[in-house]
Amino acid sequence: MPTTAEVVDRDALIAWYLRTRARSRAIFDLVSEDAYYARPILLRHPLVFYEGHLPAFSVNTLLKKGLGHPGIDPALETLFARGIDPDDEAAAQGAGVSAWPTRATVRHYADEADAAILAALARAPIVDDRVPVLRGAEAAFAIIEHEAMHQETLLYMWHRLPLDSKRAPAGYAPVVDGKAPDAARVAIPAGTATLGTGPEAAFSWDNERRVHRVPVEAFEVDAFNVTNADFMRFVEAGGYCDPKWWRAEDWAWVMSTGVTHPLFWERHDGTWHWRGMFQLVPLPGAWPAYVTYAEATAYAKWQGARLMTEAEYHRAAFGAPDGGERAFPWGDAPPASSHGVFDFETWDPQPVGSRPAGASAWGVHDLMGNGWEWTSTVFGPFDGFEPLPSYPEYSADFFDGQHYVMKGASPVTSRDLLRRGFRNWFRPQYPYMYASFRCAR
Ligand code: AVJ
Ligand code: FE
Repeated sequence: MPTTAEVVDRDALIAWYLRTRARSRAIFDLVSEDAYYARPILLRHPLVFYEGHLPAFSVNTLLKKGLGHPGIDPALETLFARGIDPDDEAAAQGAGVSAWPTRATVRHYADEADAAILAALARAPIVDDRVPVLRGAEAAFAIIEHEAMHQETLLYMWHRLPLDSKRAPAGYAPVVDGKAPDAARVAIPAGTATLGTGPEAAFSWDNERRVHRVPVEAFEVDAFNVTNADFMRFVEAGGYCDPKWWRAEDWAWVMSTGVTHPLFWERHDGTWHWRGMFQLVPLPGAWPAYVTYAEATAYAKWQGARLMTEAEYHRAAFGAPDGGERAFPWGDAPPASSHGVFDFETWDPQPVGSRPAGASAWGVHDLMGNGWEWTSTVFGPFDGFEPLPSYPEYSADFFDGQHYVMKGASPVTSRDLLRRGFRNWFRPQYPYMYASFRCAR
């Protein structure tokens, strides 16, 4: 059996943990103190929950489940154990907690948790192939990737806070200038896509396993994401007034909510604006439209098109004319800012096509970065799925036919999550995500 030293670089894990914690802290520091108990999205808990959830999840998963540690505070570790994804806002209201702890209590808990976790990463038997949770240091990786994912979840919640509850980092200004390149379609010939993440990766979530090959018919795909200017034509053509573009359940959503445009758009004094993270900006026509799956599929149908399937996304992003497959759309080089808008480089999107060095072998742009890509694939397990021992509910709770796969990355997706096999998922009418799309035929 390998020793810990052979399998995992403890110093690297510690540095990664500290970097991740520091970023979470910086994200909380963007928000003013009086928003701490605010609940900007009714389907989510108030901010306080997440500041506790991050360390509590790590304690529950690595220390308690993995190492048999007694934990630090059982009441807080129960309170902060899990977020919510209820069916509706009424269910979310029922999940409310009346008395959340003070921030000092949460911060004190987090400090103690950090000390215990750092001690474990430095000295505890975090790799033990006889213990499923510790196989290949699974729990250590899971807690860090879990936190990295939540950083995006936090930021799309922050996005909904009043602008005067947030402070932009010094020097931040959204990149609003720029013209979208002329629309172009790319023909992708029939071929095979490899889906899934294999054991060569230090860590993968259960829903990424196992590696398998999927035949994909020839198709055409837009080289660029649908922009706000493109989507405006759908709005102005009365797209939100005509049931023929919408799936029945999405039309019911349009009717019941009265939605008439993407959530990120706001009309003030007769002019369309984009609600940025820290300010309103006149609607940048060249930015990708961030929309729900419902809106994306309606637009595509109006265009006589459709969304890509997950396998088609893999073909467009990672396939190559020579029949090979790449680790990233741009090749096998590690992700850099020239390749895409990701890893917290900015807090809002940038014009489509602004990172040509990140285009795929076929010349399809922004497949990783500048907004997740909606696919038409219902989120579900791959053959041979086994729940992750350290977090068995992570994916399995969402194999309900009610979520769709998103691929790629947004501006606030950590580079740690940029891998070919990574899969994200959301409900078709959940409007808060940094999610873009493009048309395929
Ligand atoms: C994978 C982003 C859909 O935010 O619901 C965090 C990630 N799961 N804690 C979510 C997650 C549990 C999850 N997504
Ligand atoms: Fe979580």
